Amino acid sequence: MSMNLTLSVIGCGYLGATHAACMSSLGFKVVGVDTDPEKVAMLSRGELPFYEPGLDTLLAQEVKTGRLTFTTDFSAVSDADIHFVCVGTPQSKDGLAADLSYVKAAVQTIAPFLKEGSLVVGKSTVPVGTAQSLRAELTKTAPQADLAWNPEFLREGFAVEDTLTPNRLVVGVANDRAEEILKQVYEPIIALGTPWIRADLPTAELVKVAANSFLATKISFINAMAEVCEAAGGDVTVLAKAIGYDPRIGSRFLQAGIGFGGGCLPKDIRAFMARAQELGAKQALEFLREIDAINLRARQRVIDVVRNDLSEDLTQYKIAVLGATFKPDSDDVRDSPALDIAVQLHAAGANVVIHDPKGIEPARRRFPNLNFADSATECVKGADLILHLTEWKEYRDLDPSLIAQLVKNKIIIDGRNALDRELWRSAGWKFHALGRTD
Ligand code: UDX
Repeated sequence: MSMNLTLSVIGCGYLGATHAACMSSLGFKVVGVDTDPEKVAMLSRGELPFYEPGLDTLLAQEVKTGRLTFTTDFSAVSDADIHFVCVGTPQSKDGLAADLSYVKAAVQTIAPFLKEGSLVVGKSTVPVGTAQSLRAELTKTAPQADLAWNPEFLREGFAVEDTLTPNRLVVGVANDRAEEILKQVYEPIIALGTPWIRADLPTAELVKVAANSFLATKISFINAMAEVCEAAGGDVTVLAKAIGYDPRIGSRFLQAGIGFGGGCLPKDIRAFMARAQELGAKQALEFLREIDAINLRARQRVIDVVRNDLSEDLTQYKIAVLGATFKPDSDDVRDSPALDIAVQLHAAGANVVIHDPKGIEPARRRFPNLNFADSATECVKGADLILHLTEWKEYRDLDPSLIAQLVKNKIIIDGRNALDRELWRSAGWKFHALGRTD
């Protein structure tokens, strides 16, 4: 019965395109709406405008069935029973807070097309209180509809898996009916035994930012330990392994290195701090300021190691940067620590050449003045120093003896603690890694 429901997805970026294709794969008729005609044209042809393993095939397959369509015409949502709002909430230009203009505009634009009994479901990450005020607004403009919030926890690189087999489903609702509708949509996922958590609207919003704050805290914690290890002559990789065996701590997200980036973690912790301040709870989240500072410091620490290895004046040196994306298996360079370090070294006068298996074009669009190489071997040719900044498998598979023949100086800094130190050292390399004493 639930398959008779028709869904709309407003905003077809990373989250929306994934959600639309995954919901279609569950058997629903789905229409994706976006204001960007180019993006809509690509998606309508079954082509993904970004890189995400597995989503390209799923999208093509679902478009072919005819169940999944895309349009720039917002009136197309009028057939749908449920409307998922998946637009972006980037950091605002003038502060730490999130820019809510796209979310507000999305809800306002669809309001006149909402049919009797339909449900608007926010998936975007928003400051707590947003859902309640949007719902209050909607009761005025479209009293025939209701609004719920259903935060999304998908990781880039695992978007399909995280959507179709999430580790939990969280729904913020104001009444039983809204919960029942969402249960119908997610029936096949619930049937897999996925935990279902019903919350009120503010708690659902908070779950998302709390989860991302915790993850950011875990990463900055281990990076703080890395700083102490460097000062004390310890090894953070051994420390992380040892504490990770305690199930209360857990071994995941304890990979020390140049820290977190991407479209979520950095902006979410900042928006959370800004919102807490508005709510009079500033002190409760003061620690996140330190989490952010530790994270940004990791980038500076790499640059310090480079200067230490080469010279204060970097103008005479070629630095090969392996990795531009904020993490492997993604082409996303938003707030990428790797790219930030490359930009800073370039600004300091070094001859920086960057390689990335998927991120060169997005990086070039942002920084057209940087130099890029089409292959890792091309990138390292004649380099005075190699920086390993995004842990793509391709880089772990490099043969240190072969690379040694291409560079000027055999110096490598592993900014992700992902390379085999002994292997590189045995091939004659001077090998540094964050948080590990030489
Ligand atoms: C994150 C959350 O994980 C996800 O639940 C949420 O929905 C969106 O934000 P994502 O941005 O895809 O997902 O990236 P994630 O895998 O969390 O990694 C974030 C950053 O932390 C990356 O830059 C990664 O390199 C870094 N990281 C991760 C570390 O530096 N060390 C670690 O141990 C783990």
